[in-house]
Amino acid sequence: MHSFVYRANAVLTFAVTVLALMCAIASFSDNLNSPSPSADVQVLNINWFQKSTQGNDEVSMTLNISANLQSLFTWNTKQVFVFLAAEYETPQNSLNQVSLWDGIIPSKEHAKFGIHTTNKYRFTDQGSNLRGKQYNLTLHWHVMPKTGKMFADKIVMTGFRLPEEYR
Ligand SMILES: *[C@@H]1O[C@H](CO)[C@@H](O)[C@H](O)[C@H]1NC(C)=O
Ligand SMILES: *[C@@H]1O[C@H](CO)[C@@H](O)[C@H](O)[C@H]1NC(C)=O
Repeated sequence: MHSFVYRANAVLTFAVTVLALMCAIASFSDNLNSPSPSADVQVLNINWFQKSTQGNDEVSMTLNISANLQSLFTWNTKQVFVFLAAEYETPQNSLNQVSLWDGIIPSKEHAKFGIHTTNKYRFTDQGSNLRGKQYNLTLHWHVMPKTGKMFADKIVMTGFRLPEEYR
């Protein structure tokens, strides 16, 4: 009897140790994964660019968004939320951020994509600051893990400029 309890205890201890070791390795391997995502966005066309009756500039553009975010996916990744933002400075705000497009990537297989789209959300300014405005297009992502903390990062694409005239 004594030896049975002792043996059971030993087996349990061994199992717990193995489990703890597996967890440690798993979380370590997640940390070892240093993602190397890539993205490229082109503005294929300015469809129209005007000032609304309220006096706010608004632009409609056709975008070509390509990205490979496959390296963000590990065994512990549930899904990845991505959004593309136009970012620019105005006299009132050092950072204006307008979300133009977003999506949820459910799996690694879907994490390499090319999308040809007009802006899904309105690219509108709180004023008439957009003529000739330099802006960045930034692809932001939030990685939602199965366990542990969410993390976010981005790729900034610089050097975009809006037309000088409404059209
Ligand atoms: C969109 O971008 C991809 C990758 O940069 C490129 O291969 C493709 O030709 C582009 N499509 C258009 C319509 O410009
Ligand atoms: C665009 O991105 C560059 C590099 O991150 C940054 O220095 C610059 O201030 C940004 N421009 C705007 C208008 O946000």
